[in-house]
Amino acid sequence: MAVKILLFAIVMYIIFTSTEAKMKYTDCGSKKGIVENVDMVPSCGSVCNLHLGQNVTFTITFKSKENIKSVQTVIHGVLFGMPAPFPLPNPDSCSDGDLTCPLKEDTVYHYVKQFYVEQYYPKLFLNIKYELVDQDEIDIVCVKIPAKIL
Ligand SMILES: *[C@@H]1O[C@H](CO)[C@@H](O)[C@H](O)[C@H]1NC(C)=O
Repeated sequence: MAVKILLFAIVMYIIFTSTEAKMKYTDCGSKKGIVENVDMVPSCGSVCNLHLGQNVTFTITFKSKENIKSVQTVIHGVLFGMPAPFPLPNPDSCSDGDLTCPLKEDTVYHYVKQFYVEQYYPKLFLNIKYELVDQDEIDIVCVKIPAKIL
């Protein structure tokens, strides 16, 4: 009996910690790439908490389906279904995104970008639509991430 309870506890612990560590995202139309993983530091579970005055780092692991000349980061905050553009000081993912451009076909890339959550951001729930687009503005990666600014 005690062994069964112990086993149950171990199984629950594994389920809990593994779901806890897994970030929730949905693919919203990646065409020229295959998303393998999306991650944020500090880590997030079903919702990513963005604390004002904190740095967050997004990592997107994807495989490029073809040769791609240039990559731009495009971010929208989606509130009540309405996407609002989030302007970036440097949207070039090759110089700020840790990508080596041009991208080669059938190659796995780790895109990494850091953001500072400005103190003046409104505190709310939103979906972050995160896109990496090619030279023709076609999505290489498109992922939606549920987030909470607090
Ligand atoms: C955020 O990152 C920038 C650049 O890496 C750094 O200068 C700054 O001190 C960091 N701020 C916090 C609150 O960690």
